[in-house]
Amino acid sequence: MLNLINRSQKPFVLIKAGVGMLETEPVNSAEQIAAVERLAREIWVEHHTPIIGREQVDYMLARFQSAAAIARQIADGHEYYILVRAGAAAGYLAIVPDHVDGALMLSKIYVRHALRGAGIGCAALDFVEKLCRARHLHKIWLMVNRHNITSIAWYERMGFVKVKPIIQDIGGGYLTDDFRMEKRVSKNIE
Ligand SMILES: CC(C)(COP(=O)(O)OP(=O)(O)OC[C@H]1O[C@@H](n2cnc3c(N)ncnc32)[C@H](O)[C@@H]1OP(=O)(O)O)[C@@H](O)C(=O)NCCC(=O)NCCS
Repeated sequence: MLNLINRSQKPFVLIKAGVGMLETEPVNSAEQIAAVERLAREIWVEHHTPIIGREQVDYMLARFQSAAAIARQIADGHEYYILVRAGAAAGYLAIVPDHVDGALMLSKIYVRHALRGAGIGCAALDFVEKLCRARHLHKIWLMVNRHNITSIAWYERMGFVKVKPIIQDIGGGYLTDDFRMEKRVSKNIE
């Protein structure tokens, strides 16, 4: 994955102890969308297969993380960012700002397996919180599979709380079995 940074847009740069420099590259081009599709396949197959099984992973990748699906989501207001460290893709995130509700949905946050635990997710979440403040949004919410224990523990470590369980029919005979989690974002950094 080379040359991921779209130089026509100045990417946000995050500097955090332990991470070095992490860039958050906004996803717009077909090349970037294809890079997210590849990252999604790599990370979802590795991480979600033990939780929901390979068939459901393949179904969800085709339905929600194909290049065409990602392009449609971006056209509908989703914002995707590739997390770039040392010139290489380390993961990706996606958000959906909702100005009516004053909240931001953290739709995706994924770090490649070999790079976890090094502060990248934390730096990425800092970036999302800064976006929240800049856009006068006061809450981040997300859905996480109830059996995704390590990520739930991480979200709790990052200040999210479980709000309620939610089961949704996503077609193809599959259900999602999630918790909704939320984190309030203060106006100023404490
Ligand atoms: C969840 C995820 C995004 C976190 O990113 P990460 O880069 O691994 O996390 P970080 O290294 O930034 O974590 C930073 C802090 O959280 C702590 N932490 C890391 N994993 C943790 C866990 N499972 N439980 C509790 N704390 C954890 C670290 O010790 C560190 O704390 P410190 O600052 O006090 O030292 C990443 O692990 C991931 O991609 N997981 C698999 C995919 C997934 O499930 N994504 C969410 C889908 S809803």
